Formats: sequence, C-alpha cells, structure tokens
Amino acid sequence: MVLYVAPVYLLFCTNIVLGGRLRVQGTHFVKDGQRVFLSGVNQAWINFGYDFGDNHYTQQRSKFENYLTMVHDNGGNSMRVWVHIEGQTTPVFDHQGYVVGLDKTGTFISEFKQYLKAAQKFNILIFACLWNGALFEHGEALGGLIRDTRKLHSYIDKALIPWVKAVKDEPAMGGWDIMNEFEGEIIANQHNSERCFDTVFMQGSGSGWAGAKYYAQELQRFVNWQTDAIRRTDPDALVTVGSWTARTSSDKLGLHNLWSDDCLRKAGGRPLGVLTFFTTHAYSSHDKYADYAPFNHKATEYGLDKPFVIGEFNQVSGGGKDITALFDYAYNNGYAGAWSWHLLGTGSNSDNATTQLRGLRFMRYKNDENRGGLVSFKL
Ligand SMILES: *[C@@H]1O[C@H](CO)[C@@H](O)[C@H](O)[C@H]1NC(C)=O
Repeated sequence: MVLYVAPVYLLFCTNIVLGGRLRVQGTHFVKDGQRVFLSGVNQAWINFGYDFGDNHYTQQRSKFENYLTMVHDNGGNSMRVWVHIEGQTTPVFDHQGYVVGLDKTGTFISEFKQYLKAAQKFNILIFACLWNGALFEHGEALGGLIRDTRKLHSYIDKALIPWVKAVKDEPAMGGWDIMNEFEGEIIANQHNSERCFDTVFMQGSGSGWAGAKYYAQELQRFVNWQTDAIRRTDPDALVTVGSWTARTSSDKLGLHNLWSDDCLRKAGGRPLGVLTFFTTHAYSSHDKYADYAPFNHKATEYGLDKPFVIGEFNQVSGGGKDITALFDYAYNNGYAGAWSWHLLGTGSNSDNATTQLRGLRFMRYKNDENRGGLVSFKL
C-alpha cells in the first residue's frame, strides 16, 4: 500500500512545484523554490521597429527561432527584446495621437504568443522592452503618451492591457521593461524642491543625447501608469526600467534613484505602479567604467531592496575584461542577471554573437545558491 502511494504523491508534488513563475525574493529571483540568475543576451531587434505586429514576426520567424536556438544551445536562459520602440508598427495611433489598437491587422497578439511558445520550447524567458528613449526618429507619437495622460490612458486600455492579458499565463513571459535608456530624452539641470523631480545631478552626464524633451516627472508618471496597468492585470508580473547608467538607479554612492517606489508614486499617483526589479546598463569608455558602474561594485552597495540586473554590457566596452569575466563578476557580486549587447552584432558598440555565446557557455552549468544561483532551468 505504502509502495503504491509514494509514487503518486511524488508525482503530485512534482506537478505543483515545477513550472512555476519567476518571482522576486528580496534582492534575487527564485523559480520553483530555487534562486536563479538570468544569464542571457539582448536580442533587441532583427528589423528595428518592424519585428512584431502586422505579420512581421511571421515573416521573420525562422530568424527569431535561429536566435532562440543559439541562446539555448549555449546555455542562456533569458532574452531582452524590444517591441514598440517609437511606435513604428505597434501600437497604432489615430491622427490625434490616441492609441486605437496594437497593430493594424490585429495579428500582434498571436505573433507574440507564437514567439513565447517557441521560447518556451527552448527554456528561454522573454523580457519585452516596450519603448526606446535612446534614439529620436519617429518619437512624436510616443511623446504624446509621455506628456498627455489621456493619450497614455488610450495606450493602456487599447494596447497594453490586452497584451498583458493575452500573455500572462505564458511560461516564457519573463517580464516587462517599460523604457530603454530614458536618459537619452530627459531634461537635465531642472531644479525642483522635490528631490524626485530634480535633475541637476544629471548636468554634464551626457544625458539628453537624443534630444532633451521630457521632465523626470513626466517619464516617471509614464512608467508608474504602465507598471500599474501591467501589475493590475497580472499581479505576478515582473516590471523594470532599463536605465542608461546606475547614476539614476540608486540613492547610495552619491547617486540619485529616479525610479524608487516613492518617486514613481509621487509622479504618477498609482500605488501599484512601482518596479519589481531594477535594471541598469554598463559600458566602459576608453576601457574604464565610471566609478559608480556595476562592474566596480557589489550589488548590495547600491542599497536597493529589489533584484538588480545588468541589462546591457559587452566585452568591446568591457573595461578590458573578457566576456566570461564580466558574466562571472555579475554572478559572484550579487546581481540578479546579466544580458550582453547584442545578438545581432550590429554597430560599433556590440560584441559579435560568437563572443556573447562564449559568455553564455561559461555560465550555463553554474548553480551556486550562495552566489547567483541556478542558470539552466526548465519552463
Ligand atoms: C568576434 O569578436 C571577437 C572579439 O572581438 C574576435 O576575436 C572574433 O574574431 C570575432 N569573431 C567573428 C566570427 O567575427
């Protein structure tokens, strides 16, 4: 009798324990009760602004699957993928700048789900980055959403919430990055008696390279509202913002966190609209990282109470270090993940795929509970 019951009981346990979602526990991620480290790449785009919606994914499906295969075969577990960018394809705006839907032909949701199903087969979590602040090309419509809450409301109702609803139970949906490098478009040197909205500290930082267009408060509200919508629709969703440097991601080390719970709530007023993890990017200049950069500090030194991910980095701007040393540093110094830039390998500030996959191979069998945790997991 006992012999008969035991296997059934074990089977039952297996079913409820495995296949669980990625969750936050203090300053790291856990999955199925184990601490995990997000080891992966940016597969930021294939056809910039034209990857999803209106059948673009379907047309490029073999390329997407080829990249998933490469990451999987080399032991990566996650990817950051850019979706709206500046609204080239998605979402769809009317003449006045209100959002009327995700895409013109109504295929976006099924395309994105197909992508997630493919990623699941390869045990890869997808982190969707919604918007881009690092380049201003077609940004007028996006600017409308940042400045005008009625327009932002239309995006949330007609595009974001339907998208979140459709993918919230997909095992490969890792999380959401509201905006890439907002610093490209922030107005620096703004005095404000409220510290959250004061950007004097950014003077001379190089921010505003894509055109200084938005006040900190507008960007924070933009993030607060979308984060609130995502978390209202899917209470277990993970949400972040990919800051250009750690300068805006901490209140320690003389830095200034524009994305703290307090600042997001002050700007947008929505209590649920706070990040569940922090992300920053790290590139060296002339082979030197800035003093405040993650590769000069343990994650705990930033004093954050949530996981901290190095969302972009590479060897070519890696302070003279090898890609494996950089991944190793992140793993051993309390970071919750690291994503190299970027798998397509275009532009002078990118490693080629060979280098990045070598980094992933170095990481794949790591499983040290006292360091970064497990890398290879099943979805
Ligand atoms: C990739 O980049 C590395 C490091 O810069 C270089 O040594 C290697 O030759 C490159 N590989 C390919 C296939 O381009």
